[in-house]
Amino acid sequence: MSLLHAQNISHAFDYLLFENVNFTLSPKESMAILGVSGSGKSTLLHICSTLLHPNQGEVILCDHNIYNDNDDARLKLRRYDVGIIFQSHYLFKGFFANENVELASFISDQAIDSSILERLGISDFMHYRVGDLSGGQQQRVSIARVLAKKPKIIFADEPTGNLDDKTAQEVMNVLFEYIEKENAALLLVTHNHQLAKQCTYTRHLHVDGLKEES
Ligand SMILES: Nc1ncnc2c1ncn2[C@@H]1O[C@H](COP(=O)(O)OP(=O)(O)OP(=O)(O)O)[C@@H](O)[C@H]1O
Ligand SMILES: [Mg+2]
Repeated sequence: MSLLHAQNISHAFDYLLFENVNFTLSPKESMAILGVSGSGKSTLLHICSTLLHPNQGEVILCDHNIYNDNDDARLKLRRYDVGIIFQSHYLFKGFFANENVELASFISDQAIDSSILERLGISDFMHYRVGDLSGGQQQRVSIARVLAKKPKIIFADEPTGNLDDKTAQEVMNVLFEYIEKENAALLLVTHNHQLAKQCTYTRHLHVDGLKEES
């Protein structure tokens, strides 16, 4: 059974970003997408994660053909099964860090795994207001918030962009261990080749599709 199957995806805004994008992700698998800035990596991630209807192609996510489903079915999938770590982390700024994480666990009715907060190195900051945390700390809170809902598939757009190499590796280890333990999958957009190589698949996004690293 695959968790995500992308078939012949193509998308253009003012000009063609990419076409002929095909891949499959099964439980415990991860795929890194590399590519120059502006090539459409975030756009592809949005397409695969229910947020953007592609010009062409099909996305089968957890056995749902998501852009054939009605809005309700897509919303349900997004709420319970999909975890999205955005390129700019959208936390509720006036709230405390723990409130952000608790809200996600409440909405999806899942208990928070406190060892994950520990591993992300943010246990001591959970009583801070989000606005008082550093960029890297906020990024890790947003990752904790996504994991708190126990998604079946994680979409992560440069999740370690604000972090030093050591912290970045630790955060990636948390994500890799999560998908192993929960039989989940990870689609990772990154500019970091070192981290990309640790995924099951490493691909470059080009206008004519995803290519293996040469
Ligand atoms: N909603 C939109 N409307 C019009 N153009 C858009 C929209 N979203 C993205 N674009 C354009 O599509 C192109 C690809 O954007 P995207 O954010 O997917 O690139 P990226 O590969 O993620 O880049 P980066 O590495 O800088 O994050 C850019 O030229 C961007 O301006
Ligand atoms: Mg991007």
